[in-house]
This record gives sequence, C-alpha cells and structure tokens, in this order.
Amino acid sequence: MDGPRKPGGFLKPRSGFATTAIHAGQEAEKWKSAAVVPPIVTSTTFKQVAPAEHSGFEYGRSGNPMRNTLEECLAALDGGNHGFAFASGLGAITSIVAMLSKGDHIVAMDELYGGTSLLFRNVISRLGIDVTFADITDLGVLCNALQDNTKMLWIETPTNPLMKVVDIGNTVRIVKRRGPILVVVDNTFLTPYLQRPLEFGADIVVYSLTKYMNGHSDVVMGAAVVDEQAVAEKLRFLQNAMGIVPSPFDCYLVNRSLKTLALRMEKHRETSMIVARYLERHPLIEEVMHPGLKSHKCHDIAKKQTAGHSGVFSFRHAGELEHSKKLLSGLKIFTLAESLGGYESLAELPSLMTHASVPEQLRTELGITHTLIRLSIGLEDAQDLVRDLDQALHYAFNDTDIYVDHLRPSQIRPSVDHIRFPGPASDENVSPERPPDN
Ligand SMILES: Cc1ncc(COP(=O)(O)O)c(C=O)c1O
Repeated sequence: MDGPRKPGGFLKPRSGFATTAIHAGQEAEKWKSAAVVPPIVTSTTFKQVAPAEHSGFEYGRSGNPMRNTLEECLAALDGGNHGFAFASGLGAITSIVAMLSKGDHIVAMDELYGGTSLLFRNVISRLGIDVTFADITDLGVLCNALQDNTKMLWIETPTNPLMKVVDIGNTVRIVKRRGPILVVVDNTFLTPYLQRPLEFGADIVVYSLTKYMNGHSDVVMGAAVVDEQAVAEKLRFLQNAMGIVPSPFDCYLVNRSLKTLALRMEKHRETSMIVARYLERHPLIEEVMHPGLKSHKCHDIAKKQTAGHSGVFSFRHAGELEHSKKLLSGLKIFTLAESLGGYESLAELPSLMTHASVPEQLRTELGITHTLIRLSIGLEDAQDLVRDLDQALHYAFNDTDIYVDHLRPSQIRPSVDHIRFPGPASDENVSPERPPDN
C-alpha cells in the first residue's frame, strides 16, 4: 500500500477516520427510541416470536446490541468486514490461537508482550501447538523459522519495549508463498489511526482495547478485526464457544472512547515526539527507542507502513539499576505503573515490571536491561512532561560521578528551555521548531 504521505514521509492518517469513528455502526434508526448515543442493553436473553425465530439476538454471550455496535465500529476503523470484542486483549489472543489444532506450529516475534509470551510458552505449547520465537524483523530469520506445519505468524509491531518494527507487507509476502499461514498483527501500540495491518495483507488484527482504543485506563477489553468471511466464521464460533466476551457496559465505554481516538492519537504522537527529541539530546541518555526519530534503525520501515508513532517508547540511560529506581521515584507527573495508552503519562522499568516474567537470559539477549525505561506519554502538556523528566534525571544523577562525566554545568537545563512546545505555552519558547519527523 502506498497512500498519500505527510512531509516527514509517514503515511497520512486515513481520510475520514474521525468521521468513521463517530458514525460507523451508530445509526439512531437501529433503536426504537432513535437514541443518538447507543443504549446499553443489559438483558442476557431476548424474546423470540416463535421457537428459533428471533430478531438477531438470543442470548447475551452470543450477541448483544451494544457489543454489535462496537464491533461494527471497530471493523470499519481497520477497514475490515468483521469485528469481534473480547473480555480482554489476552482473551482475544486466546480465542485466535484456538483456531489452531494439536500439531500446528506458530512463528512469533521473539520480543512479545509478556502475557502473550506466557500464554504461548506455558499454555499453548502444553496443548501440542509448538511456537518458535524469532526476530522476524530479519526476513532471513523468518524464512528459517517457518516449518511445513506452520499455520500462524504472530507479529507485534512495534515491539515492546524495544520498539523494533516488523515490515508487515514484506513479511506477509514471504509467508503467503509458503502456504495458507494466517498472519496476525497485534496493533495495540498504534491503533488503526496510525497503522492498518489489513491493508498490508495481514489476516487478523488484534487489540488490547485496554490501551489506546479505550484510552481512559478504566476498561479491560480486547478485539479482533478480520476481512475474510471464512476466518470470521471461525472466530465468531470461538467467541461464543469459548465465551471470553465483554460486558455491555464495557462495550459502551470503549465505543464512546473511540469517538475521540483520532484526537487523542494525534496528541500522543505529537507530544511523544517532543519528549523523545528532548531525551535524544540529553547527555545522560544513551539511546532513545522511538520509531519516529530519524536515529531509530527502523525509522524507514515505520514511515512506509504507519502514520507516525504513538506515545509509548523507551530510553536507556547511562547509569545503573539504582539510577532507574531513583529516576522513577523522582517523577512527579508521570505515574510509576504498568500499562500504557491512557490519558495519563506512565513510566516503568520493564526488567522488573512488565517483562519480569521473560527469562533473564532472554531479557539480556534482547537488551531489556535495568537501565531501560519505558514511557507512555499521555495527554498532559508537553512542557510539563519534559520538565518532569528533566528534574527526575537531575535528581537521579546529580550527586554521582556519571553526572559529572556526562554533564557540564552549562548543559544542565538548556534542553528544556530551547524546546518549542505547541499551543499557547509556546510563546515562551525561543528556538525555531524542527521539521516534523512524525
Ligand atoms: C501489545 C499487547 N497485546 C496484548 C495485551 C493484553 O491485553 P489485556 O491486558 O487487555 O489482556 C497487552 C497488555 O498489555 C499488550 O500490551
């Protein structure tokens, strides 16, 4: 897919995205009341006019009007024909892998969300489905990992927490040449506003709606979107047969949150670029892993298939574990917590928190060290977030030799003062804005 592009080279967000998010599946005519905001239907059962003659709903697990409304909207946002909501992101993932049978094989990215990795290593493998974990950003490694019984390729892009980017289009081309292998993309980190995997040939897009899609850190939910009827039928069967379904109330909340998805993602994208550039210039920061930065090794692939990067990224500082702990405890606006994608900014230490369950040797091989910190940039003002990080870095390092080695006194704070922030607060800024990368 090669659509219209923004000046920095990234794809433009899909035209009409915000309109789709507000209107798809929401027709007031669906309801006798003509309610403009879809009503929450709590009934678990639905009256039938005659045995097996019903109005489309029989029992709450098989279908619910509010859930259907959300599913329609989700499908439209990804450009797919069918959307399915689940009780959690992992519930969606569990239902998708249940499409496979004993003896089948999955190739999965080696750096996966910890919960998916646990499910694949400790549950799926026990049921006779083998999983090979490989760094499929290297297409040669991908080819070697494929087997005759490979039935599914599991992609997470960008990866968590190192932000590697998998080239979805090229990966799909290679895999499809080998046979009917279902390509699944976990799109939690970018949402369909920034990346639409079905357009690059993926078969299933999966989400933890808990993150950006809901965006308010008050619902745990998941979803899958597919285009093909045959895949949809299998998933619809499993959604009902396995029963990992969400409540109508949660569906209502996510459906409501999608109405502001475009606005929220724009702001996450913009602010995270400002924060990433600030960190990139900070003398105590050794590496910033943000695909929107030109310095990121996957920047070109990110430009090819996304409309920019969201608010979640990682950085590595020059200290040790003790400095990570001090830095995280010194933050005043960022909250030290797991998860991501909400309106509030979060910071965490993957090695001891989200990725603690990854075996230590693998963590070391991947580079998930004690000096790697992951941020989820929320919707606060950019200058407040930069100043918060600036003071926390100062607090963590100011009485150490590292600080003396890396910072000349004149370098302590100019980085903050020379950033042009968007909005009214930018009047106080001095330097011209750099052209947008993202
Ligand atoms: C990329 C990704 N996929 C899936 C999940 C699982 O989602 P949930 O927590 O909603 O079950 C998460 C959770 O953090 C995630 O980050």
